Amino acid sequence: MTAQIISGTEIAKEIRAELKQEIADLKEKHNVVPGLVTVLVGADPASQVYVGQKEKTSQNLGIYSERYDLPEDTSQEDLLALIDKLNNDPKINGILVQLPLPKHINETEVLYAISPKKDVDGFHPVSLGKLMIGEPDYIPCTPHGIQQLLIRSGVKIEGAEVVVVGRSNIVGKPIANILLQKADGANATVTVCHTRTRDLAFHTKRADIIIAAAGKAKAITADMVKDGVVVIDVGVNQIGTTAEGKRILVGDVDFEAVKEKASAITPVPGGVGPMTITMLMMNTVRAAKLAAGLA
Ligand code: GUN
Repeated sequence: MTAQIISGTEIAKEIRAELKQEIADLKEKHNVVPGLVTVLVGADPASQVYVGQKEKTSQNLGIYSERYDLPEDTSQEDLLALIDKLNNDPKINGILVQLPLPKHINETEVLYAISPKKDVDGFHPVSLGKLMIGEPDYIPCTPHGIQQLLIRSGVKIEGAEVVVVGRSNIVGKPIANILLQKADGANATVTVCHTRTRDLAFHTKRADIIIAAAGKAKAITADMVKDGVVVIDVGVNQIGTTAEGKRILVGDVDFEAVKEKASAITPVPGGVGPMTITMLMMNTVRAAKLAAGLA
């Protein structure tokens, strides 16, 4: 069997077209314009690229966008004061503070300071708690994107044996919670594996769906999966550079070998990656609708 390639690039494009229409309708029918602010502290090159992409995507979709580029030595007090101002700014529905933050700033305190009403990253404990009890307001963007990839490629999630490899707060724990909910696009039986799991292959071999978020290049090999498995690869690992100096990226799955056994698989790049920013846009639209009493 050679797998169906699940294209995050294509599915993200489809969702963005739907959002663009919804944003135009919100403006026309309700005079509501969703607003997103991005805050970057310091000049980390990767973070600058991510924030730039978030700003550009918002603008393309018709979302009002503001961007703060703060110096590396910004104090935590000043950052918290800015967040307080943005929490109270009616033009702004979503606040995104790009991570990682410089070492002298306490990331947890900063994330907790963002109003849960504007927490479009879904990292605030209120957002995560609501997700856990099945009443989500904002679902973290990467796991939300994974669920959309599965749903929109017609993968049967209900009753499936899902094995999540990795237990981070950003991917592993939330995707496990999303897929076990009593809800459409969920109702799976979920196992979460991690660095202390005794026999990883025992679990992955019986999985109908594997979500690989281990942060380790090619950690999932062909002998660890069963025929017909669906594989979502969240990993982005740089294994070298080309002669032209371009980064060579691979996922957490040995793609070339596993695709010969899988029924469907996401590539890296072009799988989960393009979904993350798209789901941020979806959360921002939801924040605007909630603020306007339309959701
Ligand atoms: N840094 C890398 N990914 C993310 C993300 O999804 N949200 C934020 N705020 N920072 C990040």
